Amino acid sequence: MKEVKIESKLYVFDNIEDTPEEIQNLMQLAIEARKNAYAPYSKFHVGAALLLDNGEIISGSNQENASYPSGLCAERTAIFYAGAKYPKATILKMAITAASQNQKTNKPIPPCGACRQSIAEYESKQDKAIEIYFMGEIGHVMKSNSLANLLPFGFDSSNL
Ligand code: THU
Repeated sequence: MKEVKIESKLYVFDNIEDTPEEIQNLMQLAIEARKNAYAPYSKFHVGAALLLDNGEIISGSNQENASYPSGLCAERTAIFYAGAKYPKATILKMAITAASQNQKTNKPIPPCGACRQSIAEYESKQDKAIEIYFMGEIGHVMKSNSLANLLPFGFDSSNL
């Protein structure tokens, strides 16, 4: 038997002001999008903004449903819309922010497993990594150079 080690690298910024200006702007749009979250059940508001290579920015927020599993996360709302509206564009960067109505979200909120799987599909589709930045409402911002760091050993079309 052999041991297989998988390494993931992420970066941490102390706060949003420490990130490049382009990311501050993208995160600001994610914050704006977060305000449009429809989250009456979880009270957890998430916003995501995507920068495309055609200069367009697509944002989304979580949209919940009384039938809980019918709702959708912010990241997938945004990335599916980007895929639907600009199918030929390459997604370069993604900013994610989350804020709870119950307490101050002061640590970075990473995309859930289902969103990671969905974002991974777009990295495969466009054959280019997506830079991902995520934070809570305040505090540290984490950066991953690719979704692959967040979903090591993922399932993709090469497994079919
Ligand atoms: N949520 C997101 O929008 N993105 C994530 O990656 C994690 C969870 C949403 C789904 C649900 O509306 C609420 O946050 C609580 O799980």
